[in-house]
Amino acid sequence: MRDIAHDIGRDRVAETVAAFYSQVRQHETLSLPFARVHDWPHHLDILTHFWWVTLGGERYLDYSYQVPARHAEAGFTPELLVDWLALFRTTLDTHLPVEQADAWFARAERIGRSLNLLHELGHLHGPATPKAHRLQ
Ligand code: HEM
Repeated sequence: MRDIAHDIGRDRVAETVAAFYSQVRQHETLSLPFARVHDWPHHLDILTHFWWVTLGGERYLDYSYQVPARHAEAGFTPELLVDWLALFRTTLDTHLPVEQADAWFARAERIGRSLNLLHELGHLHGPATPKAHRLQ
C-alpha cells in the first residue's frame, strides 16, 4: 500500500508547505513568532522534508530536528496552536483532495497534542536555550 507521502507527491507537499507559510507570514498572531525566521528558503526546505518524512516518505536531507527546543524559543502557546491548526486546515483543504487533507491534518493534530503536552509539563517555557548547532 502506498503511503500518504507518495500519494500526495513531493512537489505537492512542497507547494502546500510554501502556501501555508506564506499565509503564516501575513497572519495576525502567527506572523509574530515567525518573525524570528530569517532564512525562509531554508525553513521551507526543512519543513517540506519534515512533512514528507512524517507522511511516510524516505529521508533525503541530513538535518537534526530540535522541535521542542525550537518551539520553546519561539514562544509556543496552546492558543497559537489553535490558530496554526486552523490555518493549516484551510491550506490543506485548498490544495488537496479531502482524503489527503484529512490524513495529513490528523498527523498535524497529533503533533500539536504532543507540543501541548510538553508545554503543560513546562518543557516549552522560556527562557530561550542557546541555539543548537544545525546540521545540514
Ligand atoms: C502541530 C503544529 C506544528 C508543527 C507540526 C510544527 C513543526 C515545526 C518544525 C518541524 C519546525 C522545525 C524545527 C527545527 O528546525 O528543528 C518548526 C519550527 C518553527 N515553529 Fe513550528 N510547528 C507547529 C506549531 C507551531 C506553532 C503553534 C508555533 C507558534 C509559536 C510555531 C512556531 C515555529 C517557529 C517560529 C519555528 C522556527 C524556529 C527557528 O527556526 O528558530 N510552530 N515547527
